[in-house]
Amino acid sequence: MRRPSLLLLATATLLAAAAAGVRAGPEMPQAAAALGMRAGPEMPQAAAAAGVRAGPAMPQAAAAAGPPVKLSPDFYSQSCPRAERIIAEVVQSKQMANPTTAAGVLRVFFHDCFVTGCDASVLIAPTHFAKSEKDADINHSLPGDAFDAVVRAKLALELECPGVVSCADVLALASRVLVTMTGGPRYPVPLGRKDSLSSNPTAPDVELPHANFTVGRILELFTAKGFTVQEMVALSGAHTLGFSHCQEFASRIYDYKDKTGKPAPFDPSMNPTYAKGLQAACKEYQKDPTIAAFNDVMTPGKFDNMYYVNIERGLGLLSTDEDMWSDLRTRPFVERYAANNTAFFDDFARAMEKLSLFGVKTGADGEIRRRCDAYNSGPNAL
Ligand code: HEM
Ligand SMILES: *[C@@H]1O[C@H](CO)[C@@H](O)[C@H](O)[C@H]1NC(C)=O
Ligand SMILES: *[C@@H]1O[C@H](CO)[C@@H](O)[C@H](O)[C@H]1NC(C)=O
Ligand SMILES: *[C@@H]1O[C@H](CO)[C@@H](O)[C@H](O)[C@H]1NC(C)=O
Repeated sequence: MRRPSLLLLATATLLAAAAAGVRAGPEMPQAAAALGMRAGPEMPQAAAAAGVRAGPAMPQAAAAAGPPVKLSPDFYSQSCPRAERIIAEVVQSKQMANPTTAAGVLRVFFHDCFVTGCDASVLIAPTHFAKSEKDADINHSLPGDAFDAVVRAKLALELECPGVVSCADVLALASRVLVTMTGGPRYPVPLGRKDSLSSNPTAPDVELPHANFTVGRILELFTAKGFTVQEMVALSGAHTLGFSHCQEFASRIYDYKDKTGKPAPFDPSMNPTYAKGLQAACKEYQKDPTIAAFNDVMTPGKFDNMYYVNIERGLGLLSTDEDMWSDLRTRPFVERYAANNTAFFDDFARAMEKLSLFGVKTGADGEIRRRCDAYNSGPNAL
């Protein structure tokens, strides 16, 4: 995996430019925090599986949204009482050393849960013998730092209470810690998830939304998994953190054509100054596909409702973000969250708790992995 060379769109110049004509609020100059972003050590990647057959496919039925069987926030209160504290210490110091960690972990968590449930299947490294979810095309940018944060937290836990805390729970707790640390809400995380016994390399490309989907198609994906329109809009608020590679929004700023095929200098739903800033920033993206822009150009490192304010102003980065304004099913929620940060935090918290329970495995459907990137035995065991 390549580390994105962060293109710091939040330079004073561009921020001022992007803000010009849209009146930035007092919370605008977060550039300092953002400028601290810097690539960290990569997580060592297992040898990529070349042309080998995939392991057993995960039965889709197992990933249905079910009631939170047997999960409880106190699950480890006897067996590993300091679990949460240990995870928090490890991921907080990782986040301080590398502020891209929070967004990375949050995105990895979404990808884990949406594909066969919150079962750490996304963490399995491919081996010579079996591919895994990491081999899916859509993984291309899952950040190594996020995996590294989870692996380190698990290592620390294994010293204190070996074989007790699942990787799926580590990822769920690490996500909560980082959302809170960047300024977002604290929400309950019921515990007791088991780790998957499989990781299907083709599932992510089927289950996850793409940046070129229509709102309608995204809603189909979410409602098929039991999430409402409101929950989809609230969860998308995670794009208040992190960044996207130019490739993900290039069709909005270069050779743009509307639905009828009519060309325009850029997607007309974009704020023109913002669009021109992105055109300049991404100029070399085909030569250097690691160039990226902040999802939230105003407060990129802060978990807040600015993402929705941006959408109202034509400052949404992905077309899937901005289209939530033109689509009348999603727009009322964008308006509500842009106007009321408390309403956003309340709904995001509830939706994250629900997401964290999606398709969880208990009992014999899973195991407690000894290390997060490998099964305890079988095709990808190390
Ligand atoms: C609604 C449909 C969604 C679409 C189409 C979508 C698409 C994307 C894309 C294309 C990127 C950029 C990836 C890259 O270039 O590296 C991204 C980044 C991100 N997504 Fe989403 N996403 C969606 C929903 C979500 C949800 C529900 C969450 C979490 C709850 C989430 C969390 C994130 C985060 C935190 C990042 C930044 C990652 C980083 O900086 O490393 N996304 N998303
Ligand atoms: C994503 O998959 C590619 C192969 O398609 C692999 O080379 C890369 O290491 C994977 N990325 C991660 C973070 O696992
Ligand atoms: C959307 O993007 C995916 C992945 O980049 C690509 O395979 C697909 O053809 C695109 N779909 C449309 C409708 O452009
Ligand atoms: C904001 O939302 C919260 C939670 O839904 C609500 O209690 C509060 O009254 C709202 N504030 C305003 C100004 O509408």
